Order: sequence, then structure tokens, then C-alpha cells
Amino acid sequence: MQNRTLGNNGPLVSALGLGCMGMSDFYGTRDDAESIATIHHALDRGLTLLDTADVYGPHTNEELVGKAIRGRRRNAFVATKFGIVRDPADPAKRGANGRPEYVRASCDASLKRLGIDTIDLYYQHRVDKDVPIEETVGAMAELVAAGKVRYLGLSEAGAATVDRACKVHPIAALQSEFSLWTRDPQGNGMLDACRRNGVALVAYSPLGRGFLTGAIRSPDDFDADDYRRNSPRFQGENFARNLALVEQVQALAADKGCSPAQLALAWVLAQGEDVIAIPGTKKRSRLDENLGALDVRLDAAELAAIDAVFPPDAVAGARYAGAMMQMVNA
Ligand SMILES: NC(=O)c1ccc[n+]([C@@H]2O[C@H](COP(=O)([O-])OP(=O)(O)OC[C@H]3O[C@@H](n4cnc5c(N)ncnc54)[C@H](OP(=O)(O)O)[C@@H]3O)[C@@H](O)[C@H]2O)c1
Repeated sequence: MQNRTLGNNGPLVSALGLGCMGMSDFYGTRDDAESIATIHHALDRGLTLLDTADVYGPHTNEELVGKAIRGRRRNAFVATKFGIVRDPADPAKRGANGRPEYVRASCDASLKRLGIDTIDLYYQHRVDKDVPIEETVGAMAELVAAGKVRYLGLSEAGAATVDRACKVHPIAALQSEFSLWTRDPQGNGMLDACRRNGVALVAYSPLGRGFLTGAIRSPDDFDADDYRRNSPRFQGENFARNLALVEQVQALAADKGCSPAQLALAWVLAQGEDVIAIPGTKKRSRLDENLGALDVRLDAAELAAIDAVFPPDAVAGARYAGAMMQMVNA
């Protein structure tokens, strides 16, 4: 397995992690048996970084990951998150909570659901604009001192927030959406902030929530309750325009002799040795396909060819709908 360092002087983790969210939430039907088999297969293949969050389910994804790592704890590097609050009365609504007492209570609850004594990487999932980042990270630092957490992370924090957070405690990782169709970290100063502070960038949704693989041909491919049905990039004219871009990716992948998913992941990994990608799948066969991206090397001419057919601002539609968009890059 190829490993990368999680931030300056941080631990080594697999260059490709496994995003576990879709196993329990957002992306259609659950199959817990196959999901657990996929996590086991990942660990057997030397993938260490498992990504979950308390809000996935909510709670059921941490429970699933906890069940899967029982007896295999030593092989797993467990990353989870706190700070997005769901409203039971309105499942589409989201809030952020970064208050110190909430940080402490969330950590204890995650440890219990995961069935572990220490979380390897604990992220604030979204910045709470009503609580100074220093207060939230201060509370997270106390969790490190107490031995409940090993490394700290932020998710979708803007450059200025990263700078401020790193003055309170080292931040090992910033998790942000980053892929061929979401280049935000390169355009908004986020990646620069990571580099000046020695923070790794963990790219979430590196397959464009599945779209960049070419497997999604129509919005009707989704189950009725699939989250993507309500996502701007997967709707109407946007869908058609984005599909035309993906067809170009498919052609380049065919030339390269790899799958479109592998090309999309290889592109993310080529953006720097400090970038780690966490593609999500609940199927062993797709995990194997995705790990094959580690053998795909893109040279400068190939990266330029990808940029030519899929320029940074080519995507149609916002990556989140409405209020959710206000919560990113904060
Ligand atoms: N910090 C945040 O705010 C945030 C937000 C979103 C996600 N995340 C994390 O990032 C992880 C990854 O992101 P993601 O799951 O949203 O998106 P993704 O990794 O871009 O794509 C996942 C989707 O692609 C499909 N897929 C995976 N490999 C495939 C292949 N080789 N061929 C065809 N389809 C394939 C999966 O379906 P199958 O499962 O059916 O294979 C799933 O529907 C999540 O699991 C989560 O842990 C974090």
C-alpha cells in the first residue's frame, strides 16, 4: 500500500482511504453485510484510513464502522467528525455546533458508538460561525490531552480559519470536497493555507459522488430517497452538461488503459504528495477498482490533456443546494 503523511510530521496513512458514509446514508439502499465485508477487504489490502462521522445515519455509520473494526483495531486509522446537527423534524436542514461542551459530549458519544478508546483523527465537520474557531479547537485540544483523540482535523474550513486554528493546536488534516469537478481548494486559498501550515488535504467525494465514474447515466438511476436527486449538479440541464464532460474523461481513461474512476482518483493524488483521497464505496469489487488508481501515474502532458477537456470551472451547477452551500469554505 502506498502511504502518505498526514500533515507535517504526522502519521502515515494509506494514500487512498475508504469513505464509509454511503454505506449508511444518502446514496440509496443499505447492505450492511457487504459494507462490512468491504471494510474488512480494505484493511486486508493495507488501506488504513476509514472515514465516518456522527451525522451519517445519524449515528448508524459510526456503529457500522465500529462493528467492522472489532478485532481489527490495530490495522485501522479511524477518522470521525462532529459539528453538523440535523433537525429530526426536517431531515434536509443542517446546523453547526462548535461549542466546547458539545465537542466534549460528541467525542464521548462517538467513542462509544465506535467501540474504541481513542479516535485517530477528529474533525470539526463544519465551522460554527457563532463560535470562534479558537474556542472549538481549544476544546478539541483538550481531548488530545485527555488521550481521547490523537490528531485534529477541520472540514470545509476556509484559509483564514485554518491559519487561526493552527495557532491553537497543530491541525493534521483539512477535509474538503476536491475532485475534477470541484477544484475549490486550489482556487480559494485553502490548499495554500494547508501548505503553509503543514496540513494534509483530505479530498472527499473524489469521484464526484459517483458521477465521474461514468456509471450514472440519468437522474433516474438513483433510488427515490437518494440525496443526489436534490443536488444541483445532478439536475436537468446541469446533468446533461456534466455528462458530456464525463464522456471526455471516459475517452481519456480508455486511452490510458484505466477506468474513469481510476483516472479521477489518480488526478486527485497527482495534485500533491500532501493530498489523500477517500473515495466511498460499499462494494468490494469497486474498492479493488479504486485501489487500482494507485498504479496510474499521470505525467504533465496527461494532466494538461485532462485540464483541456475538463477545465477548473467547466462543471455546471453548485456542489450543494441552498443553505448547505453557506456552510462550506467557512
Ligand atoms: N467532510 C464532508 O463534509 C464530507 C462530505 C461528503 C463525503 N465525505 C466523506 O467522503 C467520502 C467519499 O465521498 P462520497 O462517498 O460522497 O463520494 P465519492 O467517493 O466521490 O463517490 C461515491 C459514489 O461513487 C460510487 N462508486 C465508488 N467507486 C465506484 C466505481 N469504481 N465505479 C462506479 N461507481 C463507484 C459509490 O457507489 P457504490 O457504493 O455503490 O460503489 C458512491 O455512490 C464519504 O464516504 C464520506 O466519508 C465527507
